[in-house]
Amino acid sequence: MLIELNDIYKNYGQGDNLVRALRGISLQVEDGEMVAVMGKSGSGKSTLLNIIGGLDAFDQGEYYYSGQKVVFKNQEQMARFRHNKIGFIIQNFALIEHKTVFDNVALPLRYNRLSRKVIETKVMQELSNMGLQDKAKRYPYQLSGGQCQRVAIARALINEPDLILADEPTGALDSNTEEEVINILLDFNRQGKTMIIVTHDRNIAAMCNRTINILDGKDVSA
Ligand SMILES: Nc1ncnc2c1ncn2[C@@H]1O[C@H](COP(=O)(O)OP(=O)(O)OP(=O)(O)O)[C@@H](O)[C@H]1O
Ligand SMILES: [Mg+2]
Repeated sequence: MLIELNDIYKNYGQGDNLVRALRGISLQVEDGEMVAVMGKSGSGKSTLLNIIGGLDAFDQGEYYYSGQKVVFKNQEQMARFRHNKIGFIIQNFALIEHKTVFDNVALPLRYNRLSRKVIETKVMQELSNMGLQDKAKRYPYQLSGGQCQRVAIARALINEPDLILADEPTGALDSNTEEEVINILLDFNRQGKTMIIVTHDRNIAAMCNRTINILDGKDVSA
């Protein structure tokens, strides 16, 4: 079992602004599974993904990753968890506009102490896997949407994460580019990587092993 969530609660804000984003979610994901998460806007899908990925803390419940209890005492602990284990891919890519493609992809490696040569080798390998070796010195604004998403995928994979979390990874792409990105993700899954994909697209969900349906911060799949 790679991921086990038991009765997770997450609120945002307080008083009149209180939002109960997750209301007792339990979830198990096996190693190597590819799971879709669906549900209408505001149901808590991104919140769930952010908690699994250590981008956000939860209020109540238990989280086990690879059988180990996940406890986040501070931001640094969360960051370390993320950088060691998780690759994140989101809808609008979240590339850093004033950094080159190379530097965007290299970013996760900066948290480890690697030589410049090792960084260069890894980044260029990952870029060439994505067919972007000739774009290393470009800036995100000089690329198409599909190319930006491939840069974001290269960045997500550079640390060889066990788990890939994708939040509407094709939401901002046209259908050709969408297919390209989906094929890249399917390929990773075939290589044994565990993947959780938030999507509104039934075709994408159909490519996954199973779908989790979220409604009002709860799992209503059963
Ligand atoms: N940082 C935040 N501060 C306050 N409220 C938040 C925050 N993040 C999310 N929420 C609220 O929590 C609820 C769940 O949001 P979430 O982003 O998880 O929904 P979602 O299912 O991903 O929706 P979408 O399909 O539109 O992306 C929403 O009501 C949202 O407004
Ligand atoms: Mg969302």
